[in-house]
Amino acid sequence: MAEKQGFTSSFGAIAAAVGSAVGLGNIWRFPYICGQYGGGAFLLVYLIFVFLIGMLLMLSEFIIGRRSQHSPIFAYESLSPHKAWRYAGLLGLITCFLILGLYLVISGWTTNYVFDSITGHLAGLSPDQLDSHFASFSSSALRPIIFIAIFLALTALVIIGGVQKGIEKVSKILMPVLVVLLAILCVRSVTLPGASAGLEYLFRPDFSKLTGEGILAALGQALFSLSVGMGVMIVYGSYIPNNDNLLKTSLWITVCDTLIAILAGIAIFPAVFACGQDPAGGPGLVFKILPAVFNSMNPESGLPFGTIFASLFFILLTIAALTSSISLLEAQVAWGSEYHPKHRTRHTLILSAIVLAIAAFCSLSNGVLSHLKVAGSTIFDLIDHINSIYLPPLCALLTVLFTGWVMPKSDIRDELSNHGSLRISYFGIYYFIIRYIAPLALLVVLVTGIINSLH
Ligand code: TRP
Repeated sequence: MAEKQGFTSSFGAIAAAVGSAVGLGNIWRFPYICGQYGGGAFLLVYLIFVFLIGMLLMLSEFIIGRRSQHSPIFAYESLSPHKAWRYAGLLGLITCFLILGLYLVISGWTTNYVFDSITGHLAGLSPDQLDSHFASFSSSALRPIIFIAIFLALTALVIIGGVQKGIEKVSKILMPVLVVLLAILCVRSVTLPGASAGLEYLFRPDFSKLTGEGILAALGQALFSLSVGMGVMIVYGSYIPNNDNLLKTSLWITVCDTLIAILAGIAIFPAVFACGQDPAGGPGLVFKILPAVFNSMNPESGLPFGTIFASLFFILLTIAALTSSISLLEAQVAWGSEYHPKHRTRHTLILSAIVLAIAAFCSLSNGVLSHLKVAGSTIFDLIDHINSIYLPPLCALLTVLFTGWVMPKSDIRDELSNHGSLRISYFGIYYFIIRYIAPLALLVVLVTGIINSLH
């Protein structure tokens, strides 16, 4: 077997994993659900989940990956005496593949909006016109699929480049660019007149809006945003250098991911308020409301550079989506490479073709195939539903049960301490949470999700 490639440095490992974690979940999803469930109150619960459960779940995936040096299916199989655990890995991979199908649809929209904003097609449109622009674009047959294909081609190219010369290198360049773009947008947003109302919306805790549903959404968002529970971090864990401190690595990734989500809120809400738009725009916030915000910054209104900021914003969103979809596809490619390490290109092309078909199907279900319903929902909604309610908490639950109850405690201790060379005074807390608290919390999310969806 050819020598297994991994990341070359701690920075490379962190950049790649931050690339996976920071995505549409941070910039498109976090701000609107934070606003929806009580701003600061939601943020508080979210932070607790991110650091107590999400980060320790990531640490667990890193342990499984680095210890086994395998991708999920083989990782579970090799670390457990029971071969059936390989199905936990398989379930994770299937979930990632479905997530990728949907992720590509939205990434295709963001790529299209990069073109639309750079070519000035969004400038001057009224909020109503922006609304119908989005509706007619997302329901048309060909154009969204072309942009999905362009985005997927970029993703595949990076993966074909390899773990070091593709994923690591691209992440090391794109992540700093993303932070700079986000910082520029934040400064622009908070310096608009009337911006403080947006900061207040985002940060002032309103516990009356924090429902049980909001608390569940916070845990779901924490897992999705950190890319944990489905085995992607097992794959990246297997690429982490042997002498890296896994706790430090997870902490860095978690802090960066969380800060970027908060910064995205700061870039979006003050501008939305300053321009008198509706902050509760939901999933359409980024595609319908934000372009209106940028338009109102154009010269005729005395606030310059709307078109430039719109272009920067959609480039930012596309970069964030790209490094995430790379990780979702890499999880699949890594599995193929276990059998034929030399056929990386072939695996990438075959898997891309399959996922392109799934994404195209999802995209068409917003338009010409919208009449095609399974159990009353379109294909897009159906996959979205399975993907958010059942599979992620189930996969995450299996991961924590595996590290908390199946793997020998001494192996975990050995991996966390780099074979005894690091002090791991936190071990007791980690083990307690992974063994008891995390499974309980995930079980509650899973069962409540199932019960709610039956009503
Ligand atoms: N974390 C990414 C985001 O916030 C999405 C993502 C990438 C993901 N890889 C994942 C989610 C693996 C779950 C599992 O947009």
